[in-house]
Amino acid sequence: MRRRRSIVTSGPRTRSPHAGEPRLGLRAPRSRAGGAAGTPAVGDAGAPTGSGRGIGSGTGARTPALPAGTAPAGSWAGVPAGGPVSGVAAAAVDLSVDLAPRRPGRLVLRNPVLVASGTFGYGVEYGEVVDVERLGAICCKGTTLKPRTGNPPPRVTETPGGMLNSIGLQNPGVDAVIERYAPLWAGWQVPVLVNVAGESIDDYVGVVQRLDGVPGVAGIELNISCPNVGKGGLQFAVDRDAAAAVTAAVRRATDLPLLVKLSPNVTDIRPIARAIEDAGADAITAINTLSGIAVDRRTGRPLLGNVYGGLSGPAIRPVGLRIVYEVAQVVSIPVVAIGGVGALDDVLDYLAVGAIAVQVGTAIFADPEVPLRLVDELRAYCAARGLSSHLPLVGTALPARPGRPSAKGVEYRP
Ligand SMILES: Cc1cc2nc3c(=O)[nH]c(=O)nc-3n(C[C@H](O)[C@H](O)[C@H](O)COP(=O)(O)O)c2cc1C
Repeated sequence: MRRRRSIVTSGPRTRSPHAGEPRLGLRAPRSRAGGAAGTPAVGDAGAPTGSGRGIGSGTGARTPALPAGTAPAGSWAGVPAGGPVSGVAAAAVDLSVDLAPRRPGRLVLRNPVLVASGTFGYGVEYGEVVDVERLGAICCKGTTLKPRTGNPPPRVTETPGGMLNSIGLQNPGVDAVIERYAPLWAGWQVPVLVNVAGESIDDYVGVVQRLDGVPGVAGIELNISCPNVGKGGLQFAVDRDAAAAVTAAVRRATDLPLLVKLSPNVTDIRPIARAIEDAGADAITAINTLSGIAVDRRTGRPLLGNVYGGLSGPAIRPVGLRIVYEVAQVVSIPVVAIGGVGALDDVLDYLAVGAIAVQVGTAIFADPEVPLRLVDELRAYCAARGLSSHLPLVGTALPARPGRPSAKGVEYRP
């Protein structure tokens, strides 16, 4: 294993949220530029490793012959490609992005590749494996007011092109996160966004008030895919008014850059995204997992201890693309895309539908080096095309005129 820069990552070890789970057979993704990467064991961070059907990358799924008349999805060509271009030196490509332009200078990332909440622990767990400070930003594990032990096992299972998890927000609680990790984060160059969850608006505000002003906390990512106990367990994320109310309450509680994470489990995402922007979010991140279940064929009963799980990985990427496409047309704050990112093509596709940055999640379980490889590949891609930044790639797939908000819900266009 390559020796990493000696940054302080040797903080307190956390028990993996996946400890005791069956190990999933995930194959290391194959990069267009680099081939299959090594798959170091990352025990403490709970990253399942090994060989299997490969949910880490969707690249392989793009290669089958397409029926006549089908537009190829691979080999992205959204900008002048091929042929000699006046290439710029890769080192001269500026991949920086401002994720909170409403708060100038508060959340400028050196590159647009983040790691997604719940898939990279608190960052410290990966210090021996990845040069974490080269990441654009780290979204840490979901953090609640009080410690949570999470859902009963089994909590993860592999699915075609993805995985289902029902970790249940296992975490040590915000006070422990501040005590154990923030001092380490404060010494890092990479911004750490604390992913915040709660069961009531007071919960969210309580967590955020504790995080406000803590050195090492660069911003908040609000996970609103949580049941709102005050509304019979209806998730904040699926109720426009509740999504706006929790965003506004958190906005009042902190001056920290505030990203709000959308759920795909809604009929029409656009009114919800607009309400969140109006309530004061600095950026939107999308998407969280899709709700799903698996059946244990031996018993005929639900497989996951919690029955329901969240689907992630390449299988959800088309949904993520559709939601980012729709959201980018109705908000003017930055959109950060999440969902099945494992290869450069995925990054380019998400940029094309309007994201200015991406988060990598499930792919990390197969290969923790994916995010940094994507940074290098995006830089090389821009350089080869004479682009001094990736920003000209943003929004090329969007219609010239923004789509009219739909009163009918999602339009299916077969
Ligand atoms: C094991 C696991 C744990 C997760 N935990 C969280 C969490 O605590 N908070 C959150 O907002 N999202 C959580 N997510 C969702 C991811 O951050 C991401 O939105 C989702 O997995 C889609 O991205 P992907 O397909 O790249 O994995 C989790 C996902 C997985 C697979």
